[in-house]
Amino acid sequence: MSKVKLSDGSYMPIEMHRVSTVHPIRLIPVEDRVAALDEAGNCSYNLRSEDVFIDMLTDSGFNAMSDAQAGAFHLADFAYAGSESYYRMADKIREILGKERFVPVHQGRACEHMLAKAFVKPGDLIPTNFHFCTFQTQVRLLGGDLVEMLQEKGMVTGGEDGFKGDYDLEKLEKFLKETPLERVPMIRIEAGTNLIGGQPISMDNIIAVSEIAKRYGVRTLLDMSLVMDNLHFIKTRDAKRRDMTIREIIREMADAVDIIYFSGRKLGFARGGGICMNDEKDFLAVRALVSCYEGFPTFGGMSSAELEVMRVGFDDTMDADVVSQGPDFIEYMVEEFKKRGVPVVTPAGGLGCHLDADRFCEHLGRREFRAAALAAAIYIVSGVRCMERGLSSEKHEDSICPFELVRLAVPRRVYTISHINYVIDRVTWLYEHRGMIGAMHWEDESIETHLFTDYIRPVGDWREKLAAEYKKANLE
Ligand code: F0G
Repeated sequence: MSKVKLSDGSYMPIEMHRVSTVHPIRLIPVEDRVAALDEAGNCSYNLRSEDVFIDMLTDSGFNAMSDAQAGAFHLADFAYAGSESYYRMADKIREILGKERFVPVHQGRACEHMLAKAFVKPGDLIPTNFHFCTFQTQVRLLGGDLVEMLQEKGMVTGGEDGFKGDYDLEKLEKFLKETPLERVPMIRIEAGTNLIGGQPISMDNIIAVSEIAKRYGVRTLLDMSLVMDNLHFIKTRDAKRRDMTIREIIREMADAVDIIYFSGRKLGFARGGGICMNDEKDFLAVRALVSCYEGFPTFGGMSSAELEVMRVGFDDTMDADVVSQGPDFIEYMVEEFKKRGVPVVTPAGGLGCHLDADRFCEHLGRREFRAAALAAAIYIVSGVRCMERGLSSEKHEDSICPFELVRLAVPRRVYTISHINYVIDRVTWLYEHRGMIGAMHWEDESIETHLFTDYIRPVGDWREKLAAEYKKANLE
C-alpha cells in the first residue's frame, strides 16, 4: 500500500517509511538565484547544491538509503583483492538475477564503457529501443552507432499506452535480415526508457526481442538502470503479471537476456554499477578491461562499502512498496499538472515527471532551446533544480532529439508530498506566466559540445524580468 484513499474518494501517495536522518535545505532569494544561474552558465548541472532548494536534477546516486543499507556500510571488506563484499554481492546477483558472473564498476556509464570497449568495432551497429546519451557517445567514439527501433507510440509525448518503450519488432527483424551479422555485436534493450520520459517496456516485448535475437545468434544486452520503475509498471499495467511478485518479475526479465548492466546509482540505492552474465568468454572479455580502467575486478571503481550498500539495496528493491514510491509520486504530479493544464508527458512514467517544453514554450522556436529556457525559469521561480532533456543536452543534434523535455526527477525516498506540492504550485505559476520565458542561444555553434555541462546564454533580460514579476507576486 503506497497510496491511501481519502474520505472524499480521492487517492494520495503516502511514504511507506519514516525519516531518521535529515539534511537541511535552504531557499536563497530570487535575485541570488538569477546570479547563481549566471555563475552556472544557465546549466542546472553547474549549480552548487547549496543554492538548490529542492533537487530534482536526477535520481542518480541521490536516492535515500534505508537503515539496513546504512548498517551494511560497516560490513565492508576493503581488501584490495578477493574482498568478501564482492562475493556477497555476486551471491545476491545470482539469487535475484540468476546470472553466475558479476563485474563491478563505478557507475552505469562505466558499464557502458567496458561493454563498448569489449564488443564494439568500427562500423558496428547496435539496435536499441531508444538511445541513452552516454552509451551512444561511447559506441560512437569507437566508430560504431546505435539504431533506434522504438514503436511509433513512444515517439509522441501524449497518449495513454502503458508501454511506450516497446521495440518495433518488425523493424528489428528487417534490420537483422539486411545487416551482416558480424556488424551487430549486440541488441540493446533499455528498461525503462530514460529519454522518452521514463516510459517502460513490456515483458512480452522483451521476450519477443530476445527470441528474435536468439534466432539470429546475436547476444542481448539489457540496461536495468531504471528497472525499478519498470517492474512496478509491469506489475500494475500487465494483467498477466499482476499476481507475480517483484522478485518473480525481475527474474523472468533477467532470464530472457544474455548480459545485464545497471547503474547502481539508480538500481540499488547506492553509488556504483555492475555487469552480469553467464557466458564465461564474455565475462573474461569485460573483466580484463576493469583492471585497466576501473580498479581491481573485485571492487570495480567502487568503495567496497558501496558494494555492501548496493547488495542490501537490491533486497530493498524486491519490495513492491519500495518500487512503487517513485512512480506513485510521479503519477500524482502528472495528474495534478493535467488538472491545471500544464503540458506533461503521458502516461506518467518512471524517474521523474516530464514537462513537455515544446508545448509549455510554444511561443519560442525550436532552436531557441525551449527546454533549457524552461529549466532555468523553473529554478528562478522556485529554487527547484530540474534537468533539460532536449537539444542542449543532446549535443544540438536534431536527428537524435525528437522532443524538448524538462525532467523533474523524483529521487526515491528523498522528498515528501509537501515538497511535491510546492513544485506543482510553482511550475503552475510559471505556466500562467509562460509568455515571460525567453529564448536561449548558443554563443558558438562551432565549439564541441559536451555531455551535460555546456554553458548557454539568455537572449535579452527575460530572466531578470521574470524574477521581478515573481517577486511582485509576494510568494516568498
Ligand atoms: N543507463 C540509463 C538508462 C541511465 O538513465 C543512466 C543514467 C545510465 C545508463 C548511466 O548511469 O549515471 O550511473 O553513469 N542516467 C542519469 C540520469 C545520468 O540522470 O538520467 P550512471
